[in-house]
Amino acid sequence: MGSFRVHTVVSITVVQTVEAENDMSAVGNYQMYWSTTINAYPSAGAAPQPSGASKLCLSCHDGTIALGAVRSRATDIPVSGGPTMPSDADGYVGTDLSGSHPVSFVFDDALAVANNAAGHLPLVLPSTLSDNDVKLDAQGRIQCTTCHDPHNSTNPKFMAKPESGQLCTICHTF
Ligand code: HEC
Ligand code: HEC
Ligand code: HEC
Repeated sequence: MGSFRVHTVVSITVVQTVEAENDMSAVGNYQMYWSTTINAYPSAGAAPQPSGASKLCLSCHDGTIALGAVRSRATDIPVSGGPTMPSDADGYVGTDLSGSHPVSFVFDDALAVANNAAGHLPLVLPSTLSDNDVKLDAQGRIQCTTCHDPHNSTNPKFMAKPESGQLCTICHTF
């Protein structure tokens, strides 16, 4: 499958350096997820913009900057299908993340307690999470890398678990 091979090539030859060096997307106004039952932030406008690993992933997946635009090279590394991720690619995410799982906010016990007290979709206390496949970042934030492991292509779509449903119930008790 083409996209799989492209990603594998990208992850092995580029992502390790890209983690430090890829030109970051210049987008500063991603539309972030919000709903009236979300406790993490009070309004759509108050949603944090993508940070950390999410910003890195989006540098390719929002389709706004060249896939091979690595700062250490004067010319971009050629990437098949490039230069930017085409909007019809399976991997295209774009800049409207309002329909995607919220990312780049801190998931702490206080959030889970407030959410559960409000009677919203119940959350597990993150301090009790013991499944190492699903991780918050060093600042305790949910990022793309909470659910996707770009260094592991065993599961479809670099998922941290073989099936997406197995991911959700680590944090949510639906
Ligand atoms: C250097 C550019 C680059 C970076 C950085 C990058 N990716 Fe990708 N990724 C790609 C390309 C190119 C594809 C293949 C897209 C396609 O063919 O539709 C891909 C494919 C994927 C796919 C599979 C899409 C599908 O449906 O087949 C997922 C999931 C994915 N990437 C997630 C991530 C995540 C999560 C991160 C951050 C940890 C990330 N990527 C970082 C370039 C990148
Ligand atoms: C809460 C878990 C979760 C988070 C956080 C998350 N994803 Fe995903 N992602 C998924 C699941 C589950 C799928 C598979 C959907 C499917 O197979 O229908 C997916 C699919 C994808 C795909 C493939 C889309 C397709 O149609 O093939 C890409 C690309 C992707 N995610 C990128 C990202 C990026 C970039 C971020 C961060 C901005 C991110 N994901 C954050 C769970 C997550
Ligand atoms: C690492 C923990 C974690 C994982 C894994 C996870 N979520 Fe979430 N999810 C959260 C947190 C935290 C929130 C924000 C809750 C809040 O602010 O009230 C959230 C929010 C949501 C919301 C929005 C709820 C609302 O009230 O608007 C939905 C829907 C959702 N998650 C579905 C999923 C699905 C489906 C999956 C699996 C693909 C998944 N989540 C995986 C932690 C997680």
